[in-house]
Amino acid sequence: MATFQSLPGFREFYPEDCAARNGLFNAWRGAARRHGFVEYDAPVLEPLELFTEKSGEEIRNQLFEFEDKGGRKVALRPEMTPSLARLVAAQAGSLRKPVKWFSIGECFRYEKPQKGRGRSFYQLNADIIGEPGPGADAECIALLVETLRACGLDEGEFEVRISDRKLWFLFFAATGVEETKVPEALAIVDKWDRESKEELKKKLKPYFAAEIDAESIWLSVKNFRQDPMLWLQDVAVTHPHTDSLNVARARGEELKALDQNLKNLGVEKFYRFDFSIVRGLAYYTGFVFEAFQTVGTARALAGGGRYDNLLQRLGGVDLPAVGFGMGDMTTQDLLNELKRPLGGVDKPDVYLVIGSAAERATALSLVGKLRAAGVSVEYPLKDEKYGKQFKAADQVGAKLALILGPDEVAAAQIKIKDMRSGVEVVVPNDAALVANVREIAEKGLPA
Ligand code: HAM
Repeated sequence: MATFQSLPGFREFYPEDCAARNGLFNAWRGAARRHGFVEYDAPVLEPLELFTEKSGEEIRNQLFEFEDKGGRKVALRPEMTPSLARLVAAQAGSLRKPVKWFSIGECFRYEKPQKGRGRSFYQLNADIIGEPGPGADAECIALLVETLRACGLDEGEFEVRISDRKLWFLFFAATGVEETKVPEALAIVDKWDRESKEELKKKLKPYFAAEIDAESIWLSVKNFRQDPMLWLQDVAVTHPHTDSLNVARARGEELKALDQNLKNLGVEKFYRFDFSIVRGLAYYTGFVFEAFQTVGTARALAGGGRYDNLLQRLGGVDLPAVGFGMGDMTTQDLLNELKRPLGGVDKPDVYLVIGSAAERATALSLVGKLRAAGVSVEYPLKDEKYGKQFKAADQVGAKLALILGPDEVAAAQIKIKDMRSGVEVVVPNDAALVANVREIAEKGLPA
């Protein structure tokens, strides 16, 4: 017989996995709400052009795309940002600004499946639209920090590295790279640590004026990557009266404001500036940031940044935007490594033990009343021996067993057994029982 397996890079969620995922989603949702973000959602399947036009080269190559039965070219969303930009642009006139929205949803990328990366994964997205100043960037970065903390991570276990694509743009402009080509050049810089020096030299060379040799190009990019402030000082010496110097100085002020806002918001222990971060996506225009775990392998937990032109390009409205996406896989892996699971499988308050077929009618009517009162109840679906029922009560982790045998039914009573302590009492099977069971399940029976 043929056996079917799930596709490579797609996960199955058994109840324990689903419980962990829900725990993560609850932490994400709680943090986003505490920061005043409201939830939205969008379709998983979108017109192909939404992504071919707007995402970076890397994402374009990873699209799950096909033609639907109506002949439309469609793609499963690899990220949320283009859909969000379309949603907000479509109602830009009536939405109160700044828009602070978050969403939790499944995304799909045809990547090589490996630890921490799948072809289907979940992402928290949180974005602020309509505020150009660094206050919005700070709010997003603070939320990113607080979200990771809400997942149970602490100081020394992760850090957010912040960089600035605007400074990178100024650098490339000053070194003669055409503005429209800068995102491509940045995509090369994004792979700096993964490529050989020779490979980088070869890839960067075509973007610069022919007279600059590959070695000097490589060296100046390397230096800027290490410390853009040194480069800024250099420009001040070599081109003291240029416009780009004023722009660069103003940018320095914004960077300070971002830093100050983050300090004021109390997250100073969780971030640092690191200009080697440039981000792979083409639409980022300003500050960009990435969260990494700092225990074990340094994997990326989340990434984001400012994208001030995307709403204009997608929906014709000029609205600045900043936000981030956080995946479930690396965060969940890290929590597992640290043995800090977020939430377990639900356990019932009550397992109702039924003596025999004769008591089943009374038992089921009690099950109905208990559930209507908000108590979670499990019971055997067919007649079983007592021993088997107690074993089942134990296996599902019920807090209480309620026992209804012939003697209890005859006396309109019920026996309650606390499964944690073994303590038993017999009480009337009445409305008071239904009203009190939850509290007894929570607090336990007194010894
Ligand atoms: P991204 O860096 O492509 O940014 O993805 C953000 C996060 O999603 C990553 O740090 C990682 O946790 C997770 N992720 C991405 N691809 C995979 C994968 N194949 N498997 C598992 N996890 C993955 C974006 O997607 C931007 N749209 C984020 C954004 C929102 N920027 C502004 N607003």
